[in-house]
Amino acid sequence: MKHYLQFKDFSAEEYAQVFARAAIIKRKFKAYEKYHPLVDRTLAMIFEKASTRTRVSFEAGMYQLGGSVVHLTTGDSQLGRAEPLEDSARVISRMVDLVMIRTFEQTKIETFAAHSRVPVINGLTNEFHPCQIMADLFTYLEHRCLDDEGMPDLNRLRGKVVAWVGDGNNMANTWLQAAELLGFTVHVSTPSGYEAQTKIAGISADSGCWRSFSDPLQACRDADLVTTDVWTSMGFEAENEVRRKAFADWRVTRQLMQAARPDALFMHCLPAHRGEEVEAEVIDGPQSVVWDEAENRMHVQKALMEYLLLGRVA
Ligand code: CP
Ligand code: NVA
Repeated sequence: MKHYLQFKDFSAEEYAQVFARAAIIKRKFKAYEKYHPLVDRTLAMIFEKASTRTRVSFEAGMYQLGGSVVHLTTGDSQLGRAEPLEDSARVISRMVDLVMIRTFEQTKIETFAAHSRVPVINGLTNEFHPCQIMADLFTYLEHRCLDDEGMPDLNRLRGKVVAWVGDGNNMANTWLQAAELLGFTVHVSTPSGYEAQTKIAGISADSGCWRSFSDPLQACRDADLVTTDVWTSMGFEAENEVRRKAFADWRVTRQLMQAARPDALFMHCLPAHRGEEVEAEVIDGPQSVVWDEAENRMHVQKALMEYLLLGRVA
């Protein structure tokens, strides 16, 4: 049994498999072709933080695969009334086939997984957001790295440059893990005090997979992909005002996009705040692929659920 708690839980070879399946599953969806490999399987989704994309993509995706879904939140379950996480994991995992959790500390999802009889998927923690980076990479491959048969070719990511502008948060940490595993480079530019947590990501300070830039424009120079995220992640709302000041120069503008390669794409995991971390003309402009990126959450997660429950499907 395999869990998916961080990006590095899968090998490059497993990502190649999951992305190939995502491409096939997406084609079936677009053609209204029924594909029900998960009949009688149930996914429990546990949300301790808000969500639009993660909820809709997992819920719609599981139904499309023929399975069903149970939706739990802290407020409407015993999770919010101090039932030990270990006990919740033991009970929930006796009744369902798969669990997706969005929570605060990574240690919580690790504790749950350690006591679960079924695979556990990270739907976002303070430290990581692996399903999102999977969707982002799949989106980049779809736009820029398809092979002759129109399938995503992971090898073509080697040597690419991703510019990360803004908070060194769960998304940034996950980008670093992806870069180390798949052979591309992340140019990270964050305000001082908000650096990506390389230690938590398990990336050494001298790893060739990332470079730090104090100037966001320099980070974007010749990048193949420019990406950012909110200045204040969920759970850090008390720091809102301080962050608004600290991040004022870390906004993806047209000038930053012009420093990147002419064919560079722009991504944002969403929700976005136009005028804060990104200018409207960038996120709503021709280089932005944010709607494909959001949609692809569903296709890659369907492939992920298929892989965790059924293994390699030819
Ligand atoms: N990108 C993302 O995870 O969105 P939600 O918070 O809406 O799920
Ligand atoms: N970094 C953001 C991502 C939201 C999808 C957060 O954790 O709130």
